[in-house]
Amino acid sequence: MSTQTHPLESEYRAFSPASATLASRARQVFPGGDTRASAHYLPYPLSIVEASGCLATDADGHHMLDFMNNFTSLIHGHAHPEVVAAVQAQVALGSAYAAPSDHQIELAELITSRVPGIELMRFTSSGSEGTTMAIRCARAATGRQKIMKMEGGYHGSFELAEVSLVPTPDKRGNLAAPNSLAVDNSFPDSVLRDTVICPYNQADLAGALIDQHANDLAAVIVEPILGSMGMIPATAEFLSTLRQKTQQHGVVLIFDEVITLRNSLGGMQEVHAVIPDLTCLGKIIGGGLPVGALGGSAELMQLFSPEAVRPVMHASTFSGNVLTMAAGLAAMRSLQEQDTDRINNLAGRLRQGFNHAFEQSGIRGQALGMGSLTNLHFSDQPINDARDAMEGMIAAGHMTRLLHLAMLTRGVMSASRLMFCTSTAMTEADIDAAVTALHESLAVLRPYIKKERPDLLIP
Ligand SMILES: Cc1ncc(COP(=O)(O)O)c(C=O)c1O
Repeated sequence: MSTQTHPLESEYRAFSPASATLASRARQVFPGGDTRASAHYLPYPLSIVEASGCLATDADGHHMLDFMNNFTSLIHGHAHPEVVAAVQAQVALGSAYAAPSDHQIELAELITSRVPGIELMRFTSSGSEGTTMAIRCARAATGRQKIMKMEGGYHGSFELAEVSLVPTPDKRGNLAAPNSLAVDNSFPDSVLRDTVICPYNQADLAGALIDQHANDLAAVIVEPILGSMGMIPATAEFLSTLRQKTQQHGVVLIFDEVITLRNSLGGMQEVHAVIPDLTCLGKIIGGGLPVGALGGSAELMQLFSPEAVRPVMHASTFSGNVLTMAAGLAAMRSLQEQDTDRINNLAGRLRQGFNHAFEQSGIRGQALGMGSLTNLHFSDQPINDARDAMEGMIAAGHMTRLLHLAMLTRGVMSASRLMFCTSTAMTEADIDAAVTALHESLAVLRPYIKKERPDLLIP
């Protein structure tokens, strides 16, 4: 491996000396300087010292346009006045009770009134805990073990939720029956055996796989937009096939709407009019504090009731935490249909501008996504599943990383995999600033692409 620092990395280092200093301190206490894999990137991440609206200030005093929004969880951006007021009022009254509170009930009333598939619900401390409990509920309800998940799908920080997260061409096997792949060396074989991997957006293949495994299958879990693979929207046909086939075989259909609730008050299930048995939520419903939830039909959710014969066990010290509930309630009350419409339209403008920037640069690329969620791909081919997305990632090599750094040094913050999401704190001027930054970044990147990855250039 070359030890030479790439010129664009040098530019980034010169831009962020204070973050570099903090990163070396972090290395003394965190392995590799990191305590959260998704927020880490090389050579080191920008440290943020404060944030308000759509601007986050880094340790060197740059005001960064924040399109990351803590991985989609800040639908109003940072320090929304209603959320700040609610948290300040609540924290003075105590931050955690091992007891119900009216905030919990009110937030649940709001969510159940909006999300069509949720009659009853429970709060959790994270999205991962929500998906875990949904899977346990499905197993308890069906008496079956296996879970079908999508190739490239992500449902949290536990093994089953990450099986085949990175379906590399050498290991992933046949599209009609993909292999269950571990993402690291910690995965028990039992988890891989209990997971059936389904290709995304392939209605016929999914139907056949559900037929084949029906007797062992407790649940099918699916994100209505495949997030980690770069915001690939599911087709209505695909989701309807999953609905129809799971119903036919008595399999629980779980929609993981931890990310996608931000696209519509009722989630993508409302947009597609496909109603799952269970829905997992998280991110935006906590108003910026750690949160998760699961909900669904009364029949299934009753399995958690303390009055049930053998309730599914779910304790969790911070579930329904009163401070989180106060923040979440303020954020969700401040989110109405016109707000989701507006940020979805802003993201439409962003995608259009980004696509235009790629066209003008002569570099193969596209902005993919739906609603307020967007991801850049170094590919001009259709992207419908994880395999299509991987083609682009492999073709791009380290250009994805370099584009991310180039955008950062131009004041635009996205996830390192080039995911961008809009917030209600943004205006058209912010969108246009991000588009300008992409034009500039691609122009800077072009000579390196020409030299190192010429196939990415349109002849
Ligand atoms: C679709 C999806 N499900 C579940 C999770 C897990 O949520 P958390 O990180 O709050 O545990 C995430 C997190 O990014 C997610 O994107």
